[in-house]
Amino acid sequence: MTTTTNDARNEHMTGTDDERHRGPDFSGRVAVVTGGAQGIGYAAAEIMGDGGAALAILDWDKDAADRAVASLSRRGIRALALHVDVTDQPSVKSAFDDIRARFGRVDILVNNAGVAGPNRPVWETPPDFMRRMFEVHVMGAYHCIAEVVPGMIDVGYGRIVNVASVAGKEGNAGGGAYSAAKAGLIALTKSLGKELARKDVLANVITPGMVTTGIGARSGVSDERNQQLTALIPMGRQAHPDELGQLIAFVASDRLTFTTGSVFDASGGRATY
Ligand SMILES: NC(=O)c1ccc[n+]([C@@H]2O[C@H](COP(=O)([O-])OP(=O)(O)OC[C@H]3O[C@@H](n4cnc5c(N)ncnc54)[C@H](O)[C@@H]3O)[C@@H](O)[C@H]2O)c1
Repeated sequence: MTTTTNDARNEHMTGTDDERHRGPDFSGRVAVVTGGAQGIGYAAAEIMGDGGAALAILDWDKDAADRAVASLSRRGIRALALHVDVTDQPSVKSAFDDIRARFGRVDILVNNAGVAGPNRPVWETPPDFMRRMFEVHVMGAYHCIAEVVPGMIDVGYGRIVNVASVAGKEGNAGGGAYSAAKAGLIALTKSLGKELARKDVLANVITPGMVTTGIGARSGVSDERNQQLTALIPMGRQAHPDELGQLIAFVASDRLTFTTGSVFDASGGRATY
């Protein structure tokens, strides 16, 4: 299993560490990143924070969330950790109440919390696992969206970025539950984008291929499976979390003005739509 830390250098992006982290201007913005304690979410949080955003990290992994906030604070970023399972609606509500009390409002929501799972054909997938995939990736995002959208409509500004997967576009044999849940998140984003199109609140979705985070190890994905999925990528490699972080930061920024309900692919050429 390939894993890297958030500090590992990304040889695919040129420039110094500071230059690689330079993203859009987020001065005065408040961003919430679910699953932002590590991996893709942390990379996006760091780039938005370096651009001036205040950050709330919503993650059920308390130690990792606390470490992420300590690391953001060392960079001079205002950051808050909330230890929440995104599938638990009352806890999500209370976390957003805390965020609003501390930061006043939410301008940016990145729905990134996610888990993968063991490789099983659809007909052998336990019902509880199928439900859990939908709970985390669809219901979790939905709970957070329901918390932030009314406030975004009120102020006439918002950016919602959902993190799905190329699996949600193409399906992965042996990954039916995950693929179906991510497809659900893609469709949810398309509907939301249309609903909010005249409110200056943009909702878009990112579809990564394989990224060098610890998700596979955390979810019991085998090395063999990891290699099979990497072999599907025309670029012949996995992405570094910073490469996804940059895309998320752009889609979460005010540089994006005429795209909503749309899918931004980051699968190294596996999906070309
Ligand atoms: N790494 C990849 O190859 C890859 C590919 C495609 C899509 N994705 C998606 O990208 C997103 C981020 O993945 P990553 O690779 O950075 O993984 P990661 O495991 O490094 O980070 C995911 C974070 O989400 C948190 N989390 C999981 N379930 C949660 C829940 N119910 N409530 C709160 N927090 C929760 C975890 O604690 C973790 O900190 C996920 O949605 C994943 O499905 C990842």
